[in-house]
Amino acid sequence: MRFLSQLHILAALAVLFPTALGLPEAGRARRDAQQLLKRSADSFLATESPIALQNLLCNIGASGCRASGASSGIVVASPDKSNPDYWYTWTRDAALVFKAVIDRFTNSYDAGLQTQIQNYIAAQARLQGVSNPSGSLGDGAGLAEPKFYVDLSQYTGAWGRPQRDGPALRAIALIGYAKWLVSNGYTSTASNVVWPVIKNDLAYVGQYWNNTGFDLWEEVSGSSFFTVASQHRALVEGAALASSLGTSCSACTSVAPQVLCFLQRFWSSSSNYVISNINTNNGRSGKDANSILTSIHLFDPAAGCDATTFQPCSDKALANHKVVTDSFRSIYTVNSGIAQGTAISVGRYPEDSYYGGNPWYLNTLAAAEQLYDALYVWSKQGSITVTSTSLAFFKDFSSSVTAGTYAAGSSTYTTLFNAIQAYADGYVNVVAQYTPSDGSLTEQFSRSNGTPLSAHHLTWSYAALLTAAASRAGTVPPSWGAAGLSVPAQCYGTSVAGSYTSATSTSFPANQTPISTGTAQPSTTATATATTTDTTGCTPASSVAVTFDELATTSFGQSIKIVGNIPELGNWDPTKAVALSAGSYTSANPLWFATLSLAAGQVVQYKYINVASSGAVTWEKDPNHTYTVPVSCATAVVKNDSWQA
Ligand SMILES: *[C@@H]1O[C@H](CO)[C@@H](O)[C@H](O)[C@H]1NC(C)=O
Ligand SMILES: *[C@@H]1O[C@H](CO)[C@@H](O)[C@H](O)[C@H]1NC(C)=O
Ligand SMILES: *[C@@H]1O[C@H](CO)[C@@H](O)[C@H](O)[C@H]1NC(C)=O
Repeated sequence: MRFLSQLHILAALAVLFPTALGLPEAGRARRDAQQLLKRSADSFLATESPIALQNLLCNIGASGCRASGASSGIVVASPDKSNPDYWYTWTRDAALVFKAVIDRFTNSYDAGLQTQIQNYIAAQARLQGVSNPSGSLGDGAGLAEPKFYVDLSQYTGAWGRPQRDGPALRAIALIGYAKWLVSNGYTSTASNVVWPVIKNDLAYVGQYWNNTGFDLWEEVSGSSFFTVASQHRALVEGAALASSLGTSCSACTSVAPQVLCFLQRFWSSSSNYVISNINTNNGRSGKDANSILTSIHLFDPAAGCDATTFQPCSDKALANHKVVTDSFRSIYTVNSGIAQGTAISVGRYPEDSYYGGNPWYLNTLAAAEQLYDALYVWSKQGSITVTSTSLAFFKDFSSSVTAGTYAAGSSTYTTLFNAIQAYADGYVNVVAQYTPSDGSLTEQFSRSNGTPLSAHHLTWSYAALLTAAASRAGTVPPSWGAAGLSVPAQCYGTSVAGSYTSATSTSFPANQTPISTGTAQPSTTATATATTTDTTGCTPASSVAVTFDELATTSFGQSIKIVGNIPELGNWDPTKAVALSAGSYTSANPLWFATLSLAAGQVVQYKYINVASSGAVTWEKDPNHTYTVPVSCATAVVKNDSWQA
């Protein structure tokens, strides 16, 4: 498979564009060049899409052609077992892959994909219960473990954990399938099999979103734009799904606006781009394909060009697209000499040094996909709006454009639309140029000569190809409720303590085929059992007696104390820590405990310390414990912990 390369097209452009700009021939020449790009992207995607789907499915256990040994429904990140070893399943990658599969399935019924989706959901229900170094399902903390062995067992080696986008992305993927079930009359399957898994992930997001964690590249501990955006979407979609199932997700409703509020913090109006990681000090510019991925994964075709949720055609997302992609122009040899407004190879972030810091297929495809999403909305709404924020982006395609709204049919609209379409196709052509003849996609390709690098057959690369191709074809994902959301005037780190229950019902009824159109009746009757909430007549307690139960084996003379981020816990000063009682301590059950009165809803961070008789302090290991005092009728609760060694 050999495709017209970007360089061939640039050469054609040079021939077609003499210095005759301004003459009528120049316009025709530009249109001819755009046609050339389009035909090349057409032919590449027509050939590559079935290859990508086949290779993607090969990486899913138990029967995938490269996934031998992986459990049923498990997505292997890449079949490579060394250099790098990606023979694991990542919660994030798997969820993004299945989001792509579920969107594809929703658009066009496919019994084979349905079996895969069901296997995935059953596998995730089991994985949620696997205790791991991030924690367990008991308090939800284990849900943010980034990766597991492909037989579902925990990975106990050192890793950047927790990664808090995983539960949110998994919820989003599963919600996609649950919505399909509901609209085809299978509400009880959605309620009994899928919802229990989603519910745990939503509870996790509602409880832990306001804590730092590792970003999607597993390098930076802080707050990641991609993570926070995914968390927001999960809560919004989760609340809507809950109500369509006749249940509720009150934490979703109360917390979502606060997550959206925090999301705005990543935008730097002085720099005109998204700082992808905040609450960290990593010495980077913040320019990161993290934000382009965020835009495509938040795409809601019903939300117009709203910047609040960073829609692909919003002025902020377009301004950011330019800054992030431009950051790779001068640093990669493969991009050398390619002018702004012409597609290039896109990496993760300019400071990247992993495998030498190279372009990634999935990021180059994301740069295309954002633009295809934008083109879709512009053509639906029949106009393109240029603001002072997005002006620099648009000037790459028409140097004389000014802020304003340009209606379809106007010459400015036509010029911009066609040029941006060619720009988007240019990114696909970059990928075509660096795709080997068998159509396989690795993770990266060399910044100096485009040779494929790092993990082979990266599942996420194939998913990225499929979603970019779908968007280009105008097959867009369903709306998720992004339209018209408002941002609270003031931001709070509100969180809600969740409750977690193992999802045990994992078998799907047979023959859940689509209802034929014409007889479509959204099911509204099934399982509309009202859930018991806190509004059962009692007054929620304003302060709660919280008993901290800590299992810690100690020697004679040592005592256990608790210290944390509030005055009641000594503001992290070990000399002001609260002593626990050993009144129930036995060697079989080494229990230390203390009860404190804390404000309901308060979020507390703390650690236990072991104080020797000499006064020497030993801190338990990271991470800090985070606990949200529940807002409920209960006036006394117990928090179970054990010493983190
Ligand atoms: C928690 O939320 C507050 C309010 O939006 C914000 O200032 C803070 O940076 C957030 N912290 C984390 C770790 O999310
Ligand atoms: C725990 O909290 C303390 C005090 O805020 C902070 O200095 C420390 O970095 C935290 N540890 C981790 C692992 O987040
Ligand atoms: C704490 O542990 C006790 C004893 O194992 C158990 O009975 C109780 O249910 C636990 N509470 C929570 C909130 O997990």
